[in-house]
Amino acid sequence: YTKIAAIYADSETLSGQTVTVGGWVRTIRDMKQFGFLELNDGSCFKNLQVVMDAGVLSNYAEIAAQNVGAALVVTGAVVLTPGAKQPLELKAASIEVEGTSTPDYPLQKKRHSPEFLRTIQHLRPRTNLFSAAFRVRSAAAFAIHQFFQDRGFVYVHTPIITASDCEGAGEMFRVTTLDPKNPPLTEDGQVDFSQDFFGKPANLTVSGQLNAENFAMAFGDVYTFGPTFRAENSNTQRHAAEFWMIEPEMAFCDLKGDMDVAEAMIKYVLRYVMNKCPDELSFFNSFVDKGLLERLEHVASSDFGRVSYTEAVEILSKNNDQFDYQVFWGCDLQTEHERYLTEQVYQKPVFVTDYPKEIKAFYMRLNDDNKTVAATDCLVPGIGEIIGGSQREERLEVLERRIQELGMKPEDYWWYCDLRRYGSCRHAGFGLGFERLVMYLTGISNIRDVLPHPRTVGNAEF
Ligand code: 4AD
Ligand code: MG
Repeated sequence: YTKIAAIYADSETLSGQTVTVGGWVRTIRDMKQFGFLELNDGSCFKNLQVVMDAGVLSNYAEIAAQNVGAALVVTGAVVLTPGAKQPLELKAASIEVEGTSTPDYPLQKKRHSPEFLRTIQHLRPRTNLFSAAFRVRSAAAFAIHQFFQDRGFVYVHTPIITASDCEGAGEMFRVTTLDPKNPPLTEDGQVDFSQDFFGKPANLTVSGQLNAENFAMAFGDVYTFGPTFRAENSNTQRHAAEFWMIEPEMAFCDLKGDMDVAEAMIKYVLRYVMNKCPDELSFFNSFVDKGLLERLEHVASSDFGRVSYTEAVEILSKNNDQFDYQVFWGCDLQTEHERYLTEQVYQKPVFVTDYPKEIKAFYMRLNDDNKTVAATDCLVPGIGEIIGGSQREERLEVLERRIQELGMKPEDYWWYCDLRRYGSCRHAGFGLGFERLVMYLTGISNIRDVLPHPRTVGNAEF
């Protein structure tokens, strides 16, 4: 079948030709001798106006009686209609009903709130907002692969089931094969969760980084792009329990090189989506976020800010009267601080670097001051953190000391430490939260509206 997007894109060539289109009815009008319906097939948000002539269609009465939402296959000639409301229409020669709908179809032609649409996740992809959001999501995912593939990065599939807690935040979902009626017990009679996975511990991964490091130490430049899971009970607009993360890992690379790649990647994806999805972006610009197009253009063509945590704390603590949480050296930056920095101070994306080691993960490289680590977070206006990255600790003794200090079990990380025993080298990487990037690209403010089927606190129905 011909896609509606292709008909609009190639209307001059297709003018007068017969095409077949499959799609769903958005509106239908019956004027007895003839009628109109608007069909949408998800390839773009333009509908295709179909003209139905009772004298031509033997099943005109059946078609005219269809409800919004019905699935139809229409064959007819493309007719250009310059000067009319829509630039072209399809003169139907035949229409088949594949699936009827009913008058109580929930998506009638009116604006529905995103809150309502979240309650019908199975139908919301048929709305303009969500069809645009998920086309942008698809294009952005492709752009990310293209960016890394063009630069010779090897795509690694990292495991979903793992025993290691990369971020050390204890936010892992347990995976278990234990029989709830007859679980193995520890000496003091508690369920022995360390036997979860056929006798060994296991969780859903919070990050593919440690596995990506294994591969970076063989391939040089690698990336993962897959689902990750966090069992944090954060009911916010930017946290999901299941989200997708892009994690490049690069050998012989330091923190500056890491930020350069992150900045180039974001700009590449912005440009790609601006070129590939202009209609979607102008739709978001009109209906979701008025400054979107201007902002994307600005971000794609200017340098990101770079500031150390220590400098950022100096700037922020002067404005402590504006914050719920007071800023001091050593504190973890809250969303309000991140947004102040990127929205008020820089008015563009900014990398914050060299955080205190106490508030960052065990694998980050200790700086010469012995207080900070070579970490970077990329903050963007409207959202806050979209990337967390670092140069990794490549010195075996320093890493082992850190593992000890944090009370982690060295035996769980023997293979990770091996990378530092055999041909260790400088390396760095980062994790980009894919949903946060899609929010940034579309202006959509809630992560629930850029995930096809969001898994947020208490929500796994669909
Ligand atoms: O800062 P995070 O926790 O970093 C890591 O996991 C590193 N291992 C990445 C690396 O260096 N390879 O997470 C990275 C990004 C965040 O900046 C954020 O965009 C996103 O992942 N993220 C979430 N997105 C949605 N929902 C959540 N609950 C998220 N937690 C993190
Ligand atoms: Mg982070």
